[in-house]
Amino acid sequence: MPVFIDETRRLFTIHTKHTTYQMTVGKYGHLLHLYYGKKLAFHDAPDSCGSDVEPSEIAPDLRYLLTFYDRGFSGNPYDAGTDRTYSMDALPQEYPCFGTGDYRSTALQIRNADGTASCDLRYKSARILDEKYSIPGMPAIYSDIPREAAAEANADECCRKDCPETDNGGQKKPAQPPAQTLEVILEDKASGVEVTLLYGVLSDSDVITRAARIRNTGADTIYVEKAASCCLDFLYGEFDLIHFHGRHGMERQFSRTPLSHAEQILQSRRGASSHQQNPFFILASNDAGETNGDCYGFQLLYSGNFKGEASVDQYKQTRALLGISDELFSWKLMPGEAFDTPEAALCCSNAGFGALSEEYHRLIRRHVCRGYWRDRRRPVLINSWEAAYFDFDADKLVRIAKQASELGVEMLVLDDGWFGKRDSDTSGLGDWYVNEEKLGSTLKAVSEQVNALGMKFGLWIEPEMVSEDSDLYRAHPDWAFVIPGRKPVRGRDQLVLDFSRKEVVDHILEQICAVISAANVSYIKMDMNRHLSDIYSLTAREQNQGATLHRYVLGVYDFLERLQARFPELLIEGCAGGGGRFDAGMLYYTPQIWCSDNSDAIERLRIQYGTSFGYPISAVGSHVSAVPNHQTGRRTDIVTRGVVAMAGTFGYELDLNLISEEEKEIVRRQIRDYIKYSDLIREGRYFRLSSPMENEEYTAWEFSSEDGAEALLNLIKTGAHCNSPVEYVKLCGLDPNGWYRLTETLSTQNGRGERSAGNKVLEDEQTLYPGSALMAAGLPVPWMNGEYQAWQVYLKRV
Ligand code: DGJ
Repeated sequence: MPVFIDETRRLFTIHTKHTTYQMTVGKYGHLLHLYYGKKLAFHDAPDSCGSDVEPSEIAPDLRYLLTFYDRGFSGNPYDAGTDRTYSMDALPQEYPCFGTGDYRSTALQIRNADGTASCDLRYKSARILDEKYSIPGMPAIYSDIPREAAAEANADECCRKDCPETDNGGQKKPAQPPAQTLEVILEDKASGVEVTLLYGVLSDSDVITRAARIRNTGADTIYVEKAASCCLDFLYGEFDLIHFHGRHGMERQFSRTPLSHAEQILQSRRGASSHQQNPFFILASNDAGETNGDCYGFQLLYSGNFKGEASVDQYKQTRALLGISDELFSWKLMPGEAFDTPEAALCCSNAGFGALSEEYHRLIRRHVCRGYWRDRRRPVLINSWEAAYFDFDADKLVRIAKQASELGVEMLVLDDGWFGKRDSDTSGLGDWYVNEEKLGSTLKAVSEQVNALGMKFGLWIEPEMVSEDSDLYRAHPDWAFVIPGRKPVRGRDQLVLDFSRKEVVDHILEQICAVISAANVSYIKMDMNRHLSDIYSLTAREQNQGATLHRYVLGVYDFLERLQARFPELLIEGCAGGGGRFDAGMLYYTPQIWCSDNSDAIERLRIQYGTSFGYPISAVGSHVSAVPNHQTGRRTDIVTRGVVAMAGTFGYELDLNLISEEEKEIVRRQIRDYIKYSDLIREGRYFRLSSPMENEEYTAWEFSSEDGAEALLNLIKTGAHCNSPVEYVKLCGLDPNGWYRLTETLSTQNGRGERSAGNKVLEDEQTLYPGSALMAAGLPVPWMNGEYQAWQVYLKRV
């Protein structure tokens, strides 16, 4: 079993496949962190795996790691008496709270009824549940693996016949649960604050999930002013902080800086997880790279304001925190009420970023995304936005669809502009009825014409927003966030609806469901094109406005949950001006998210590179668009654009009537190739072979099947030089004993740098290459004349 409680020594141990996590209760009742890292196998100890060993003894006891010294200006709990060596300012903790003498940033801050901020949590009880906890109204990692399958998956974990994990005959015990929860309850006797710390573990994952439930068991009303989802204290080590910052059109840019004694904060105050900072970060040992070194991932399943913190304390210990932001947050708890934090997913890799990303990719694909489309190939789509913007009618849409269907595209998505009075982005939001006058048709008729071409039909919505020039705003001005007596901040000429109010969500949901029901809508792109401001909810009592931003996010989740329940086979793609709400919380409701409004293939290299650290390829919305690119003006070959878009859910964002016959032929082949390799791309292992932040010559990535039998190498040349040195690219994930045949898909040039449609760089596709050499010595990158050339090679083990 992965979770153990040793009541006698008050030790709590969690084992995942490759990691161990341990905590203990200190002398005075504080929950202290001991270890998180490489798995400490109980069978390493000579006497610890005999059949007479109690399960409570099978985890190593790491309490020896704690040290106690009398430190100046680091105070001691009153009940320590004259013992000056026990200080909350120095000890590693699981859920440090403000008011105990710990002057570092803490996980919990309470405002008590008397106005004070102190809280002193001590251990009360702990228990193990044979299932993964869930969180009401919020995303949470889940397991749907049947019990028997989980037992089988763990069978090879056991080393000995007499291990307590086996029955007497050496057979694996059948009752291995697919998931477990460790619940540890802490209490502050003075205020009645009770905190349940939740730790979740899945049998097929290395991730440990964390969340906290804060309950008011006292007689007075209190306020939760800060409640992180997790805290991780490291006793030692020098770490780099890797985070993913950005802006609209340039999301999730990789950045690496050494941690220092200055507190580093990653956060969003924008009401959405944001383009500017992603709720995912990594702490990595200074030497860590793609395939080596220790690294710890912190991933928050939340789509609103968040805060990640990391710093080195005075004793060179590192503390990391992640959770909902405490800025603009205050949650009122009446006696008996509870507040649930969002969930965080921690992961530790001793084999570099590659292994860490792979764990998160698997976790999100299998245990975060849900529903009909979770494991299915998504249709290759064409989106009307960059093809027509607001300028379309039914005939034009059908013309776009017709050409696309002839080339193999499987779905037309009608983007912004089909509803209310909406010929520009200044009006109409909130009026979710079809503008038949503009279309010159009903939406049902358009969808049927598209269906008749053998294509599905999809639609864009932006439910959280309202234009001042709309019937909805004229009827319900108080439904928008506006502070009485002030003029609101406008964004893209629109205001934000107060989704913390159920009647607002109900109204919008009903309107949108009616549209979906009336036409054959198979897909929804749910957009959000500005951040929140003027936070004032008419229905929140004055002293509880601090809850509005979180209630807004709960409203968005409720909208999505009910929309999907109404249409279980509807494919929903998230979007917020591109990737402005690209987080694991949204992926619980929408299995894919439009990655960026920047569709330039070369800029996408950096955006998709950063995104890949925390999120799987199956989640990345990526399309081929027109040249010159509408965001950057850059020209790239359609082959290059296709190779980049294939590292995602693949589609087109241009009018295919306007490209040359030669390019049409390439599109036809691209779609065939994408469909052929889609399982490999969606479900396969993903490897970053080079970094666009460091390598100026090329960016390369690879998909390989779990068994290494096939792989797809992708390379975009980003540097062009005279008489340049030859570059080599080393592959990953192949069978070291296997031999591979290499076949090119589409490349922009042949091996002599000449351009013609459907070029091949490899002159000879009959040669067999040893997998071990492809990984250790690599492949020479062929000569390609000019920047932005693409090379895509399929490798098949013979
Ligand atoms: C922003 C999205 O990211 C675009 O793809 C497009 O849907 C526009 N909004 C429409 O207004």
